Amino acid sequence: MSDRIYSRIAGTGSYLPEKVLTNDDLAKLVDTSDEWIASRTGIRERHVAAEGETTCDLAYNAAMRALEAAGVEASELDLIVLGTTTPDLIFPSTACLVQHRLGANGCPAFDVNAACSGFVYALSVADKFIRSGAARTVLVIGAETLTRMVDWTERTSCVLFGDGAGAVVLKADAETGILSTHLHADGGKKELLWNPVGVSVGFKPDEPNAGVRINMTGNDVFKHAVKALDAIVEETLEANGLDRHEIDWLIPHQANLRIIEATAKRLDLPMERVVVTVDRHGNTSSGSVPLALDEAVRSGKVQRGQLLLLEAFGGGFTWGSALLRY
Ligand code: UT7
Repeated sequence: MSDRIYSRIAGTGSYLPEKVLTNDDLAKLVDTSDEWIASRTGIRERHVAAEGETTCDLAYNAAMRALEAAGVEASELDLIVLGTTTPDLIFPSTACLVQHRLGANGCPAFDVNAACSGFVYALSVADKFIRSGAARTVLVIGAETLTRMVDWTERTSCVLFGDGAGAVVLKADAETGILSTHLHADGGKKELLWNPVGVSVGFKPDEPNAGVRINMTGNDVFKHAVKALDAIVEETLEANGLDRHEIDWLIPHQANLRIIEATAKRLDLPMERVVVTVDRHGNTSSGSVPLALDEAVRSGKVQRGQLLLLEAFGGGFTWGSALLRY
């Protein structure tokens, strides 16, 4: 037995709001079609939070399921890290709101904002806490209500996003778990994917949609995403001395099926070994990777002992990966 500490995934959970919006529903709102959306993105439908349903609500439900799957009580948690770019409030953090609702008061809790890479960033932070011995049982969540900042009159972006949350419970383990995480950012590409509204820059109430709109130069983001994900996949394999054929499952961020296919090709991985949920969830930002992971675990696809590669790319730009033995 080694004296190394790993972060092992003890349980996963996820939650999607009840309401489903199909491509045909969107075609009634803007000049688009199921054919265009499905062929360019792979998306067929997405879930949308009900009025009054918040990121904390989605996160709490996903967390409860992950705790149950792990057989862990909320009172046992040493830390809660939550990836989101759509927090309920500016402060307190959504992690604090979830902590209180879970009845886990006392342990540290904080949010990580890395846009769509939020869950991978949060997972990496949690892994560092466990490896250093600072925590043994950690709840990691990715949760978003991205549709709250969608402009429903703007066809180039409103067809892409959805709401949802996923969570994992990590436990310190001597045998197996997260092998490595890799994080990157490039703040120089800010304006290709952003929401320019903020507290410190001041609100601009007279500008139409200034308060809600996600701005994205889709084509450019697409190219940067494919390139960055190619590079991080190589970096992750190399850091672990692995051949690409050793990966059992790719669990990617779900933004666009064509980006996912490009990464799978890089890994020489057949699509049967890639977890795809973008068709039913759309892009749920931080929620997407843990939602896909939970679905793959609960459907019996992902088995204990298998090697999983998680990756994400998002606004910032930010991108990251995690390689783990499940
Ligand atoms: O999660 C964070 C990271 N985000 C991403 O990774 C997103 C990356 N980008 C993408 O996924 C793709 O660029 C999009 C799905 C956003 C767009 O696909 P595209 O193939 O790059 O299309 P495009 O923006 O080049 O637009 C092609 C055409 C344009 O018309 P013209 O100029 O060729 O006449 C658009 O006006 O498609 C038009 N178009 C639409 N048509 C019907 C744009 N949106 C729509 C729409 N329905 N919803």
